[in-house]
Amino acid sequence: MTAVRLQAMVQHADESLFENRGLRDYFSYRDLGVADASDGRIVAQINRANYQLTEEGELHHHVLTHQINLVLQGTAVMKFEGTGEVHLATGTCFYMPPNIKHTFVSCSDDFITMEICTPADFGTVEDDPATYSPSTRLPQAFSMQTAEQGDFAVQGLRTYLSYRDLGIVDATGGAILAHIIRAEGGAYAGSGEWHFHVLNDQFVYVLQGWAEVQFEGEKPIRVDAGTCFYQPSEIRHAFLACSADFQALEVCLPAEFETVTA
Ligand SMILES: [Fe+2]
Repeated sequence: MTAVRLQAMVQHADESLFENRGLRDYFSYRDLGVADASDGRIVAQINRANYQLTEEGELHHHVLTHQINLVLQGTAVMKFEGTGEVHLATGTCFYMPPNIKHTFVSCSDDFITMEICTPADFGTVEDDPATYSPSTRLPQAFSMQTAEQGDFAVQGLRTYLSYRDLGIVDATGGAILAHIIRAEGGAYAGSGEWHFHVLNDQFVYVLQGWAEVQFEGEKPIRVDAGTCFYQPSEIRHAFLACSADFQALEVCLPAEFETVTA
């Protein structure tokens, strides 16, 4: 019997992947391929403004378990049940509890946000604006972290990378880890320590710069800004190099998992 070879999903930046579909005509959407790769456990997409939004959108809520956004570019104002108006800027990460009523109030014409939801398939319900209640108590709180509030710290043995935890572990009760990884102390070129992780799902979206990674049985690949890759559990891989300005978002489910060097 031969073992099934594990394969990573890699989607490079490609303008033709943006589609005008879905709820809102003021956004184009790029599906990052994570929903297929994860068998529907999690979806990740880029939402990009088609124009400057100046008119408040429709109040609605989603029936799902978790929803996370990381603002990649521009500014926006959103309104959330229980919280009220929130100003968003590049690098802001926010967590939306299930069923929270929300809407866009405005956004800049260069606004881009990355949205991550579990599960991949969920329902959306339009709400009557009269039901919006700024003082409602939700089962979980809305939370956010701006770029200024986030701290990068070196962890463990890899001194050439530092991590900004986005505060999602607590918000999701340990279901999801989301952090930004950044090159520390200049460009890195190493021998590439082979290892694997034991978890349910893991994906990376390159925010800035580039890195070179290798998956078992494959040639090294370069991942540039805008590339998303999904690593199935237990796939052996190595981090070979990165540029001095490298930054990437990494998302892992669950938040705590085992790493094996082998
Ligand atoms: Fe929404």
